[in-house]
Amino acid sequence: MRFCLPTLLLFFSLTPGAAAWAGPPAGQVLYQKNCAPCHGANGRKGLSSAHDLTKSNLNAYGRAYLVTNGFGKMPSFKKTLSEVQIQQIVAYSLTLR
Ligand code: HEC
Repeated sequence: MRFCLPTLLLFFSLTPGAAAWAGPPAGQVLYQKNCAPCHGANGRKGLSSAHDLTKSNLNAYGRAYLVTNGFGKMPSFKKTLSEVQIQQIVAYSLTLR
């Protein structure tokens, strides 16, 4: 997350109520809620043959497509998550190593 911290700080320093912001990034919260049950908090759980996300070669575009539409046993999140939320989750999933 180091790369987007300055941007975040800039954004929140210009936003009223910035002091109220605390806690983990949205993508992480969404990931823990929607993806961790199968993929695990660190991406490696592999429940019902969920792929190891730390070894995935898919880029952001491929991951967003898969999360939106589902694939095999992986459910589609089209109805449960907004496009922005999917982008946030995907960005977070790319940090799992
Ligand atoms: C119900 C269990 C389940 C949930 C919940 C789930 N996944 Fe998956 N996921 C899977 C399975 C199973 C596969 C393998 C699909 C296949 O190849 O048939 C997979 C594959 C993937 C892949 C492809 C990895 C690769 O390179 O092959 C990505 C990326 C992924 N999931 C991301 C996510 C994200 C992000 C979320 C949360 C929005 C999520 N998944 C939620 C079960 C799940």
